[in-house]
Amino acid sequence: MPLLTTTEAGVPIQGPSATLIYDDWYPAMRTDGLRKGRLATAMLLGIPLVLGRRSDGRVFAMRDSCPHRGIPLSVGWFDGNRVTCRYHGWEFEPCSGRCELIPSLTSSDHLDATRIYATAFPCEERDGHAWVYVPGPGAGRKGDEAQSRPVPELKKFGPRYRTAFLTADLPCNVDHGIIGLMDPAHGPFVHQAWWWRSRASIREKTKRFEPIPEGFRMSAHAPSGNSAPYKLLGVYGQPVETTIDFALPNRRTEIIRCGDKWFSSLTTVTPVTSSTCRIDVVAAWNVFYHVPLVTPIAKFFGAKFVRQDQETMVQQAEGLKHNPSLMLIDDADKPAKWYFALKQARLDGTAKHPMDGPVELHWRS
Ligand code: FES
Ligand SMILES: [Fe+2]
Repeated sequence: MPLLTTTEAGVPIQGPSATLIYDDWYPAMRTDGLRKGRLATAMLLGIPLVLGRRSDGRVFAMRDSCPHRGIPLSVGWFDGNRVTCRYHGWEFEPCSGRCELIPSLTSSDHLDATRIYATAFPCEERDGHAWVYVPGPGAGRKGDEAQSRPVPELKKFGPRYRTAFLTADLPCNVDHGIIGLMDPAHGPFVHQAWWWRSRASIREKTKRFEPIPEGFRMSAHAPSGNSAPYKLLGVYGQPVETTIDFALPNRRTEIIRCGDKWFSSLTTVTPVTSSTCRIDVVAAWNVFYHVPLVTPIAKFFGAKFVRQDQETMVQQAEGLKHNPSLMLIDDADKPAKWYFALKQARLDGTAKHPMDGPVELHWRS
């Protein structure tokens, strides 16, 4: 997909950084790039990772650094079972990180290689992504807490569906990426297009929100009457209902249902470093299942949509370089305020939720 990358856009990767949320799952990369016997690299929360797929099919993610002298493990070898460091040939089992062999040891050495571990992160494959659990700095080697948080997964409502995936690097920190994602007021300006909506179609909206654990839900509602794709769904002649959830650390799920037809998407904004992020969208649907070309057309419009957000954030990054003071207004920026409050509560380790109960927000978009 010909999406802009930060470098192509010529924007230096810098600007204000954000506090990061550790101890949670983040998508590191697509798993179609993880072929047997090959190593791939990715960056998550500023941590360099080496990823791969064992010969039994299981995916793994390790810190891309040999515990012996720090050379990236990704420049070494992988035979499908063990990752071998190219400096002194230490061999590691990649899912546990356990060192299985130190070639320089002799029979008179007492060092037990298997007591040495490279850093390995819990890693699971879902919806074509390698999800990696990133523990806080200084956390122990074992990812026990990983078990207490389920691996995020796209909701599907039947066995037959089509899927699509989109990604774009954003030259801003994760907070700007996320509040951009939940911002209702930019639509008519950033996403103007004959097939979506025009600036002239702005009208007053009322949306009902309710608290959910570590997030909020835009309650089931009939989607905006002024956006064409939603109108198209009306062909099934049944009421269309949309639910949009946001939950920490970075997930927006949108579900549209119309009788037994459905569309489901999971959008994440993942910190690559403390000052840059990446947006990933995975979607599945059974609407128009039998209509040819729907998948390429959906991908085309989806890519265009994400690219509009991306171009705007590239421009925004230009302004943010100078660290201006910013503002959040009611009601259009209320979800952004909730996000910052929820994030602060997570960082403080309190269960404080910024919402007491359901509320209605009003804005024009
Ligand atoms: S640096 Fe990796 S084995 Fe020595
Ligand atoms: Fe947008």
